[in-house]
Amino acid sequence: MIIAPSLLACDFGSFAKETVRAQKSGAEWLHLDIMDGHFVPNISFGPEVVRVIRPLTKMTFDVHLMCSKPEILLEPFAKAGANSITVHVELAERVPQLFWKIRSLGLRVGLAVNPPTAIANAEPHLDQIDLLLIMTVNPGFGGQPFIHEMLPKIQQAAAWRRERRLRYRLEVDGGITQQTAIECARVGADTFVSGTALFGHRQLGRAVKKMREAVAACAPKDRSPESGLN
Ligand code: DX5
Ligand code: ZN
Repeated sequence: MIIAPSLLACDFGSFAKETVRAQKSGAEWLHLDIMDGHFVPNISFGPEVVRVIRPLTKMTFDVHLMCSKPEILLEPFAKAGANSITVHVELAERVPQLFWKIRSLGLRVGLAVNPPTAIANAEPHLDQIDLLLIMTVNPGFGGQPFIHEMLPKIQQAAAWRRERRLRYRLEVDGGITQQTAIECARVGADTFVSGTALFGHRQLGRAVKKMREAVAACAPKDRSPESGLN
């Protein structure tokens, strides 16, 4: 089980301090939400912020590109210190080329699925990815409520992984609190992005630990034991 605090919910006046706080919390990954004001109606931060915080931590940098033109951003984020880059399945026929480019940069490949998009759209790509990100809110803003109708998608993605003996991590993103993380873990999620619920907590380390313990206690028994990278 991996907990990935989302830097989107940190104090934007103190990226460095907040990164150190996340590092000390014991979280394995730091989730970096990149928004371009076009694919989603908001703008967050770019590769320069990632480059500046990279030396402050050994956490895996999990870059989530909510961008219409990820092609022009892959190299800058790779150079800035990303470990994985996730692009959206809604980019349709551009997805295979993006995967190829991410791999050629030596990074792990992620695929994200927005709430209105059927999980079937991700199916043809499953043997190419390290990470499948199921959006549990409409992307663009932190602090939105979890959409429960996404649970069957997670269940389906977990079933495919089991049946086909694949190893992608199954990540959920949006409205993840301790309670909704438990609901996702029960249907097979193993990687939990959480912004508001973690960074909003004064004791981030405690919040991370509590979330990790809660999800570990309710993972399905048949989860593929070798699933996933870390
Ligand atoms: C949503 C982003 C999320 C966001 C989650 O557009 O992709 O990663 O940071 O934030 P919370 O946990 O506040 O919903
Ligand atoms: Zn995200």
